[in-house]
Amino acid sequence: MKKGKDYIVFALDVASADEAKKYVKLLKGKVGMFKIGLELFIQTGPDIISIIKELSDAKIFLDLKFHDISETVKRVMERVAQLGVDLVTVHTSSSQKMVEMAVKGGGGSVGVLGVTLLTDNDASVVEACGFKEIYINDIQSLVIKRAEIAYKSGCKGVVCSGQEVIMIKSRFGKDFMAVTPAIRPKWSITNKDDQKRITTPAMAVKAGADLIVVGRPIKISNDPALAAQKIADEIDVAIKEKDVGFF
Ligand code: C5P
Repeated sequence: MKKGKDYIVFALDVASADEAKKYVKLLKGKVGMFKIGLELFIQTGPDIISIIKELSDAKIFLDLKFHDISETVKRVMERVAQLGVDLVTVHTSSSQKMVEMAVKGGGGSVGVLGVTLLTDNDASVVEACGFKEIYINDIQSLVIKRAEIAYKSGCKGVVCSGQEVIMIKSRFGKDFMAVTPAIRPKWSITNKDDQKRITTPAMAVKAGADLIVVGRPIKISNDPALAAQKIADEIDVAIKEKDVGFF
């Protein structure tokens, strides 16, 4: 059975392989997945993938958020398919064709997640980007529109806020993955930072999130392993409450 720790994706938002190794060693067995973002990948290149795999059994999420012309994204994904990662992200804000080509390029060897609306965006950002009033007044309708692009393109799921999971699951079904960043436990010493559409780990999991992405609340805590453990415990309680129908 999936345990609390299996829900946690730790964001390795660090600038060197040494720092990444430090966190992988600290959090080994305490989280289900490590996420490599652009900062680390640009610094280390793909070698970081085998470095992490040597140190832990956790899965690997390559969060490079591709967004380019469809043919380029397909070719990029053909390379990603050789890396042995479990998940990868593409933006859904370009075209359905681009997302379809991403899935095609991945050839089924990597799960493609569509990024809907970044969690540091809110209605004012949507307005400033020139979107129609309907999306400014109801940004969740933009999230749904983009999730639909991901769904129709054959993505494994989407990245969205925990606030949007119920809506996405009820529209696209429980097997369509919802991966939620912008997680802020109540006890976290970090505040929202730049994130806007935040939830606690328990809220996200009770809503149906399959994975929660956590960076700074673990990274900048005094004891990252303990912080991860506290989040896992919170999720374990949330799973039990969900099972007995408290939610
Ligand atoms: O430190 P924090 O917990 O806010 O980290 C969130 C992580 O999730 C970062 O690595 C960020 O790039 C990623 N992310 C996000 N919002 C998305 C997609 C990914 O914050 N929509």
